[in-house]
Amino acid sequence: MMKQNEKYLKATLGVEKLSLSLNSRFYPELHFAAPAGWINDPNGLIYFNDKYHLFYQHYPYSGYRGPMHWGHAISDDLLHWQHLPVALVPGEKDDVHGVYSGSAIEHNDNMVLFYTGHKVVESSDNHCIIKQVQMMATSRDGLNFEKLGVIITPPPHIQHFRDPKVWRDGDIWKMVVGVSEHGIGQVWLYTSTDLVNWQFKQVLLKAKENQGWMWECPDFFQLGDKWVLVVSPMGMAADGFAYNNHFQVGYFVGRMENDQYIVERDFTELDNGLDLYAPQTYAGITDRRIMLSWFSMPESKIPEQEDHWSTCLTFPREITLSENNQLIQKPIAEISQLRKSLTQLEQLSLNDNQLILPVNGKQCELFIEIDLLNTQAERAGVLLAYDPQTHKGVRLYIDKQSKRLYLDRSSTGFGPNGIRSIALPDGEKLSLRILTDKSSCEVFVNGGLSTLSARIYPNYSANHIALYAENGLAKFSGVRCWQLQSIWIKPFPNM
Ligand code: FRU
Repeated sequence: MMKQNEKYLKATLGVEKLSLSLNSRFYPELHFAAPAGWINDPNGLIYFNDKYHLFYQHYPYSGYRGPMHWGHAISDDLLHWQHLPVALVPGEKDDVHGVYSGSAIEHNDNMVLFYTGHKVVESSDNHCIIKQVQMMATSRDGLNFEKLGVIITPPPHIQHFRDPKVWRDGDIWKMVVGVSEHGIGQVWLYTSTDLVNWQFKQVLLKAKENQGWMWECPDFFQLGDKWVLVVSPMGMAADGFAYNNHFQVGYFVGRMENDQYIVERDFTELDNGLDLYAPQTYAGITDRRIMLSWFSMPESKIPEQEDHWSTCLTFPREITLSENNQLIQKPIAEISQLRKSLTQLEQLSLNDNQLILPVNGKQCELFIEIDLLNTQAERAGVLLAYDPQTHKGVRLYIDKQSKRLYLDRSSTGFGPNGIRSIALPDGEKLSLRILTDKSSCEVFVNGGLSTLSARIYPNYSANHIALYAENGLAKFSGVRCWQLQSIWIKPFPNM
């Protein structure tokens, strides 16, 4: 049998070797990605010993999903990341088929990780029985981890039981876990005084009709005097413009009263785009709440898999609550450190035509304000990753007749297509803040009251940005575009 540390070395060397054959045509310049191999959810986000740690679901040997490990990286500023050796490798009796998602806390100067051990008990073509338990690992240096084994086993009738998120509440530790019981997604709350012995406390919340058969990746935290529960439900049916992705991500807002979670805002989609899943917020930061998400979705087509890597994380977002309990998401303020040159255009009118902006659109932060009051065009907006030769591009536009804002990637170079939209917010102006990267765009609407995020796969030459108006006049009351520098210090990340 392979010795413990040999397994870790093998995984780290595996990803290093794979990175040598990586094709970087879609590799992000502004978003965290692994050196190579598969990634999904961000895990164990914690500020520990003056560094931001980021762990992630990882398969180090190919761009395709395999038994899950935890990859690891650190940063001083949440922008520039240093890849570190693989932190957790599956293979123990209880995590033999995967070290699934989880979280981190600091205790007595140690970093403590909580994760789900995943095991397939029986599997055939149309039938699969799994066993999931919560497990724990510790580290003094935040680099080498010692697994301490199982801390919570679910009742025997529960199979889907995963993604522990732990935090401290006064003298006790609390943990939320995503569960499916009798086909109903839910979040269970556990408590502990010593991090090792955990007691089931209560069902924190469960799905109502069409809120999913399983709730993955719960996160539960306080913003002001409210409590926000974020979950990633599986199995919600599409309902008009809502819930059109393969799985959903959303949040509830409420208050704690006599230990009960009283919901004030029902399930609200966290992002209205095509690719965002399994968000988690940072532990160890007291003055703001920072969220990272997987910038993809289970079952999505991922063209870069053949390039020996797969997907990235969204740009870190600071989240706050509006007065009516709506989540506001903004790129973290540190983004200003990436800004290089600014192109600014005042007051622009377009009448049934388009204007290519004098910027390189591959890697920028774009602010656009549309004067809704004085725009009569049937459609008006911006073409991202636009190729003037082929006229292909991602369209982000308002549609006057349906009174909606659309993000449409159906006419990009290649890769998956799809269109998503939100109701046009009330108001005389619409502000759009857009982050474009080599294979993604993230749109923050009206200061982050809504977001639309999507992976996109433009041709190499599709590096323009154009404003446009269709059938009538559109007024843009301000356009600013920052060219952003890459987050990778070397031309290409090495470990
Ligand atoms: C969400 C998820 C988690 C699980 C992990 C496995 O994307 O399915 O529920 O822990 O991914 O990789």
